[in-house]
Amino acid sequence: MEFIPEKINQYINNHIEEEPELLQLLNKETWQKALMPRMLSGHFQGRVLSMISKIVQPKNILEIGTFTGYSALCLAEGIQNNGLIHTIDHNEELFDLQKKYFELSKYKNSIKQHLGNALDIISSFDERFDLVFIDADKENYVNYFKSIIDKMNRGGVILSDNVLWSGKVTEKPNSKDIDTISLIEYNKLLKLDPRIETIILPIRDGLTISRVK
Ligand SMILES: C[S@@+](CC[C@H](N)C(=O)[O-])C[C@H]1O[C@@H](n2cnc3c(N)ncnc32)[C@H](O)[C@@H]1O
Repeated sequence: MEFIPEKINQYINNHIEEEPELLQLLNKETWQKALMPRMLSGHFQGRVLSMISKIVQPKNILEIGTFTGYSALCLAEGIQNNGLIHTIDHNEELFDLQKKYFELSKYKNSIKQHLGNALDIISSFDERFDLVFIDADKENYVNYFKSIIDKMNRGGVILSDNVLWSGKVTEKPNSKDIDTISLIEYNKLLKLDPRIETIILPIRDGLTISRVK
């Protein structure tokens, strides 16, 4: 869901950096070939991710939920020269499409694809991270946070997507709506955890920035 009126969205898109050509191609191919193409971050949110990454200048980045690789390529734009972005997805059907675009990009040596369940893969990492983007199954957001918080460097940033969940987080959820219940719990956790400071931006479906103190 978009919280910003279409006319304003259009104005914003006309007054920000152009979407890089490779990302335009990936966007197009995702809409042609992938199921649920709306999951891709897109021009505006992609430029937000790129800008945050350039400000943070991370050495190590972790992305949970690669999909077709669009957001990984945006995050890679701010990575240090010797840095690495680990990006995880459990859908093997997406692997070759991700790989095609990673190899076409100038960040090909800075991106490591992981295929499998995110929690299993995260538990195998020894690295510490400066930037994490959580954008996979909503019911595991709390588990993702718990699995990465002790692997974050001081001043590191955790980004979480879809935290407003089309506004459903503001209403009493149906007891079977696990995603909404999980996101409500997650948003409370981020507000209360003393190790981080958190701001929610009403960008696209809601994007949280949490900075590790
Ligand atoms: C919203 S999409 C990611 C979109 C991508 N970050 C972007 O902005 O272009 C979520 C992805 O998470 C993956 N996913 C869901 N649950 C997962 C899990 N338990 N482990 C690994 N990947 C998972 C899905 O296969 C899907 O590709």
